[in-house]
Amino acid sequence: MRIAITRALPEPSSTEILIGHEVVPLEDLPQGQREAELASADALLATPVERIDEALLAGAPRLRIVANCAVGYDNIDLAACRRRGIVATNTPGVLTETTADLAMLLILAVLRRLREGEALARSGSWVGIRPTQLLGTDLRGKTLGIYGLGRIGEALARRARAFGMEILAVRRSDGPGSFQALLERSDVISVHAPLTQETRGRFGRDELFAMRKGAFLVNTARGPLVSEEALVEALEAGHLGGAGLDVYEDEPRIHPGLVGRDDVVLLPHLGSATRETRLAMARRACEEIARFFRGEPALSRVDGG
Ligand code: GLV
Repeated sequence: MRIAITRALPEPSSTEILIGHEVVPLEDLPQGQREAELASADALLATPVERIDEALLAGAPRLRIVANCAVGYDNIDLAACRRRGIVATNTPGVLTETTADLAMLLILAVLRRLREGEALARSGSWVGIRPTQLLGTDLRGKTLGIYGLGRIGEALARRARAFGMEILAVRRSDGPGSFQALLERSDVISVHAPLTQETRGRFGRDELFAMRKGAFLVNTARGPLVSEEALVEALEAGHLGGAGLDVYEDEPRIHPGLVGRDDVVLLPHLGSATRETRLAMARRACEEIARFFRGEPALSRVDGG
């Protein structure tokens, strides 16, 4: 079978698991050639930056499976896949702990002012330790609100408890009262829900201003859950104490109002970016394709089939 792969993967993944198939790397091809390769592909291994929509699928009539190398699959138009009988899969489980580590890292970095401390240490103008210098916020005794208590939210809760934080978790299915309580009672909110129609824009102006004064927001899920415009406004107004972001509304663009701020720690979508985890994700996505063509059931199918 011809397997088109949108981005270079950590190996050994395709080289071992897709042996016997023809693997076609698309990343460095000019647009026209990429389209020609897609037109004859039987499978597509994609990442969150590619939109797998009606237009792409129309140009890939032989496609039978799209394996997303990510746990999130908001980049895939599942209805369009279903109409065409295309199976879609993701890579849950293998990136849970790594992503929870990064959420914890952002919480620590924001509350302990890592960005400013790092800059001062490198600046040449540091005059030595002072009792009032760069004072941050203790995690111990604070309430961490977790929006979206799935695998990653649970893994973050375990970590945060070890730092002495109280956990207040809200599942997407919990009522509006629980969400309001999360906003009002959390010292830090960490976002862990998938991007869906109902979660898009979940943290807009009203919600961010309903958070505690001085509270912090961390997002390692998907950017469009949080309005960057409203976040900048809440930070500029001094209502929020800071934010830690790994994901953005319109990646790779980052709202300019965030980029210049010292109370914001910004990472370029690194949630699952360790050698071990990205290799495990790549192998898992390849495995889904290999299983599909061996006629075996998917490990994690997301198209509802
Ligand atoms: C990365 O963003 C993922 O969804 O795995």
